[in-house]
Amino acid sequence: MNINRRALLERWWMLPVAATLGAFGFMGYYARQVSHKREAGAPQFVSHPPQRLILPGGEVPSPLSTLWGSLNFEYAGVSCVLIHLPQPAPGSLAFGGQYFVAFNRTCTHLGCAVNMVRNPEILAFSFNYRPPDGTPQLGCPCHFSVFDPLHAGEAVFGKAHFPLARVRLEVRSGALWATGMEQVKTGW
Ligand code: FES
Repeated sequence: MNINRRALLERWWMLPVAATLGAFGFMGYYARQVSHKREAGAPQFVSHPPQRLILPGGEVPSPLSTLWGSLNFEYAGVSCVLIHLPQPAPGSLAFGGQYFVAFNRTCTHLGCAVNMVRNPEILAFSFNYRPPDGTPQLGCPCHFSVFDPLHAGEAVFGKAHFPLARVRLEVRSGALWATGMEQVKTGW
C-alpha cells in the first residue's frame, strides 16, 4: 500500500501534463474542423437533361413559398435540394422576384444526405456550430458537417472540406429548370 501511494505521489505531475496535452489535442482537432475548407470557386457544371422544378408563372410549391423553405427533388439520379433564399447569393437565380439556389445533397465527407437545419439552437447543440449571422444551414446527420447555402454551399464546419455540388438553375419559358450539376468532390 505504501509503495502504491509513493508511486502515485511520484506520478502526480502526469495528471496536469495529460490534461494539457488533451486540451491542445482538442484545440488542434477543432482548428482542423474549421480550417482546410475549400472555396466553391467558379462552377464547373456537367449538363444533364433539363428538369422543370417550378411551373411558369412563378407558382411556387408550398414547401418553398416561405423564405428558407426548401424542396428535396431527384435530379440526374441523385437527391438534391432547392432552397428559397431571402437574398441573392453566389450561384442563386432570381425567379419571379425571389431567389433560389440548389445543391446536390451528397455530403462531401462520406456521402450521407444533408438536410436543412433552420433552428440555430439545434445547429449549436447538435452540430456544435453557431452561424455568425444565425442563418439556416445544410447539416449532415452522420458526422455533423455544416454547409452554408448563402456561400455557394461551402463547408463551414465539421469533417467535410469541399463545398456541396451545385445544381445549375435556369429560367426557360417562364419556368425554373435544373439543367446541370457539378460533380461531387471529396477528400482533404
Ligand atoms: S458523411 Fe457527412 S459529415 Fe461525414
